[in-house]
Amino acid sequence: MSSLRVIAIDGPAGAGKSTVARALAQRLGLEYLDTGAMYRAVTFAALRRGIALDDTAAVADLAASIDLVVGDDGVVVDGVDATAAIRTPEVTRSVAPVASNSAVRAELVTRQRQWARLRGGGVLEGRDIGTVVFPDASLKLYLTASPRTRAERRVAEAGGDVDEIEAAIATRDLADSTRADSPLREADGSVVVDTTGMSIVEVLDHIEALLRTT
Ligand code: DC
Repeated sequence: MSSLRVIAIDGPAGAGKSTVARALAQRLGLEYLDTGAMYRAVTFAALRRGIALDDTAAVADLAASIDLVVGDDGVVVDGVDATAAIRTPEVTRSVAPVASNSAVRAELVTRQRQWARLRGGGVLEGRDIGTVVFPDASLKLYLTASPRTRAERRVAEAGGDVDEIEAAIATRDLADSTRADSPLREADGSVVVDTTGMSIVEVLDHIEALLRTT
């Protein structure tokens, strides 16, 4: 694993992980994997098939059997484009029990490691990349920002009421950081980047400076 060039980016919802990961991958000539999209895709597939999200065995079977392609252009689940469908409020509200299903996590972590191995590395973004998936990554970043800033970014992207979105983000943060399996936390040796008040270019320049010194 240590011969791979992996950059791990973790942090709470709305911290700017996807934007930063995508742009950083482009700057470095690496590919980028949004692992949250994988948990969303399993959730979407379960909802579509009418599988109860608290039926841990059925959801685990589904995760092991679906054909899942998460690429730069979108997400394809069993041959069907699910790029927009995995971002609906219904999926966002429903993802927590899927993300706390240990068998689902084991399956998706295996796929994430395979993805990186096939490419000699990459930029992976999620909640447990530096703690579980690639604890020996070349660089481990923990991106964060104030809850208000994170809510304001979501509103700028997709509209909505900032107070409601801030409350929803706080609920998801709590679920992500208190679950038993692979809770969101800063990995040992990770560099915390608080992006509050920083532009995307400032964040990228800061990370590139970190890469030069590691
Ligand atoms: O980053 P996102 O909002 O698309 O992630 C969706 C959910 O998936 C999030 O609430 C937590 C979960 N997730 C996870 O548990 N582990 C990951 N590596 C990525 C996401």
